[in-house]
Amino acid sequence: GAIGKDGYRHYMEKELHEHPLVIGQTLQRMVDPATRKVVLPELPFNLADAPRAVMTACGSAFYAGMVGRYWLEEIARLPVDIDVASELRYRNPPLDRHSLGLLISQSGETADTLAALRALRQSDVHILSVLNVEHSSMARESDAVLGTVAGPEISVASTKAFTAQLTVLACLSIAIARARGHLDPLREEELVSALLDMPTRAADALAQNEAVRAMARVVAEARDVLYLGRGSLFPVAMEGALKLKEISYIHAEAYAAGEMKHGPISLIDSSVPIVASAPYTPLFDKTLSNLQEAKARGGRLLVFTDTKGAERVSAIAEQVVVLPHVHDFVTPILQVIPVQMLAYEVAVLKGTDVDQPRNLAKSVTVE
Ligand code: G6P
Repeated sequence: GAIGKDGYRHYMEKELHEHPLVIGQTLQRMVDPATRKVVLPELPFNLADAPRAVMTACGSAFYAGMVGRYWLEEIARLPVDIDVASELRYRNPPLDRHSLGLLISQSGETADTLAALRALRQSDVHILSVLNVEHSSMARESDAVLGTVAGPEISVASTKAFTAQLTVLACLSIAIARARGHLDPLREEELVSALLDMPTRAADALAQNEAVRAMARVVAEARDVLYLGRGSLFPVAMEGALKLKEISYIHAEAYAAGEMKHGPISLIDSSVPIVASAPYTPLFDKTLSNLQEAKARGGRLLVFTDTKGAERVSAIAEQVVVLPHVHDFVTPILQVIPVQMLAYEVAVLKGTDVDQPRNLAKSVTVE
């Protein structure tokens, strides 16, 4: 039967509130809570054999992949190429034997991603897909599938599938790191513990909705918005800008915070709000100094941070959303939640058709 909205205004709002649940469900499939170790399903190839990974996806799934690249490179020391599927499918890149082809898709039916999968098939790569719909075209054509246990996602703009994809990619990075000899048991326990904490922390993030709404009132008045982040929070900024464009029809652009001075800084004045993800990570000081540069040019700063960064961010920002401080590794999983909530609240203020934005489809099955 039809899936209801359970009293929420839109499917998107309902699905945002499912972040804690789906992260938990996805972890249940991939982690043994007793040993605090990642346990992947049996794969028909050896993860340790892959000399590199080539990742591809479209839309939000692509940004999840970009976060995954940081993890695979940082933790597993695995070189990663990543490109949107509509480019990869025609790029004909040289691929080393036994490379890992990593596809990410909520639906498993996106035409470009499926075509990229078939293009990768032409080489001797192992195809591992991260899919929410486990009986899909991509599932049938992959060598192995890792499921995101997000349940059906109705809202065209993806929310809970995204954090579930991040959860799977985080676990996969841990498994590959161990297989490649880059992870001792204590460090694995530390990373897995941080992941197991995520459902509770995600619920804390959802509880910040009043602060997010206050930010939304500023963003809803803008014509252009600049999103900034560094490291694994740069793809979070991209996801935020995409979501805002998709459902509120406000122009938004995401930039790596350090790259702002090479262009978008010339756009900054008091009419362009700057939405930044700046939790207390090793790159916090760098991001903060970029935000100071923007403020010096009249920019209005709307900043997502955490309890450890709150004091210094509050000193310069017009509005702040403070999340719990968590392990660096899982920071993007947590920080993306209020970023998606912001787009939702702006769309509600603008009165757009949140669940069915114009010109977009849930699953794009044509090229
Ligand atoms: C569409 C949706 C996006 C989604 C993208 C990729 O553009 O509007 O929300 O991220 O397709 O979809 P997939 O099913 O492959 O993840």
